[in-house]
Amino acid sequence: MNEAIRPGADNPQQAQNQAQEGPELSVIVPTFNERDNVMVLYRRLEATLANIAWEVVFVDDNSPDGTWDVVRTLSQRDSRVRCVRRIGRRGLSGACIEGILASSAPYVAVIDADLQHDETQLPKMLLLLASDQADLVVGSRYIEGYKSEGFNKQRAGASALATEFARKMLRVEIADPMSGFFMIRRDRFEELAPKLSVHGFKILLDVVASAHGSLRAVEIPYTFGARQHGESKLDSMVALDFLGLVLAKLSNDVVSLRFILFAMVGGIGLVVHLATLFIALQLFKAPFAEAQAAGAIVAMTSNFILNNFLTYRDQRLKGFALLRGLIAFYIVCSVGLLANVGVAFSVYDQEPIWWLAGMAGALMGVVWNYAMSGLFVWRKK
Ligand code: GDD
Ligand code: MN
Repeated sequence: MNEAIRPGADNPQQAQNQAQEGPELSVIVPTFNERDNVMVLYRRLEATLANIAWEVVFVDDNSPDGTWDVVRTLSQRDSRVRCVRRIGRRGLSGACIEGILASSAPYVAVIDADLQHDETQLPKMLLLLASDQADLVVGSRYIEGYKSEGFNKQRAGASALATEFARKMLRVEIADPMSGFFMIRRDRFEELAPKLSVHGFKILLDVVASAHGSLRAVEIPYTFGARQHGESKLDSMVALDFLGLVLAKLSNDVVSLRFILFAMVGGIGLVVHLATLFIALQLFKAPFAEAQAAGAIVAMTSNFILNNFLTYRDQRLKGFALLRGLIAFYIVCSVGLLANVGVAFSVYDQEPIWWLAGMAGALMGVVWNYAMSGLFVWRKK
């Protein structure tokens, strides 16, 4: 490109300044409604990372409070700051992955925006990676020296239980695989990236489980502080999400997290169906055929709502699309039922074992419903 027509490059000196070396450390900050925390975090990063070439990428899912706008303004003043504004998408893991892949430093850190993580640990974490003592450094809340201000009793208990479960099931060695605060070598992350789920909250657990013990991990304790502004976005759906991730990793990603969530919802649907059937028969004294039909309709509707809230939370249907989606879901499930019964019959024909035939039919039904829902109900825009 001709230097003379490059904006802001009136002389070679200035042009030189424009082509600086890349950073040593990229800090990724996922945000959703964190407007009041952005400036504080930025100042703290600036203070802590004074001797390091760093950049920060905020990945904001189009926050209604305009977090992206605050970041954008900041990035106009400081080129180390960047903003990825994602529209029509939600999800913590996906935001972190996208931010890491959009950055360039050989080492990348992920830290929450809400100041609950201790950013003063970053230089220590970087040192451990840069001196090749580790591939991954985790800010841990569970090892000696760990203190927590930001955790209530109930949540601490649930979190400890989930952690134990994940560690046992997936043979994950680190103490706090649910931490949202870590630093990793870029090359190792990029190797693993294609295996990671963009769905859910547990990106670190996903990284560690997907690496199958090949990451040298070091943990450093830190104080999990109290949130300064705004509120937590983790709702009760997180528990189901987490269970799904563990199962997906257990199957070595043969089945996707989304499929597992879909199947879990299907399982809940079965309970809903039987409960409706029972109520219709016992309370309303309905004839069996009507009661069974009512059960099916109630179960399909509740499955649709649950899938819209959990399985496809990142593509949640709203307004008119919700109604259209519900009708499409009824049609998909009705055909799925035919497929279910058809397969069960033909298996039973070959081998009259009722539970084997029943299971084959149910499996066919859920695979069909899942595949067709992805095509016709929650299709990607
Ligand atoms: N881009 C984006 N999209 N960011 C999100 C989303 C989302 O859908 N949901 C949450 N975030 C951002 C928040 O703005 C915050 O910066 C960070 O992710 C963590 O979200 P919180 O809502 O503050 O989560 P938390 O404090 O309850 O949970 C933290 O601790 C957990 C361990 O107990 C997080 O660090 C979790 O990752 C961690 O597992
Ligand atoms: Mn938080």
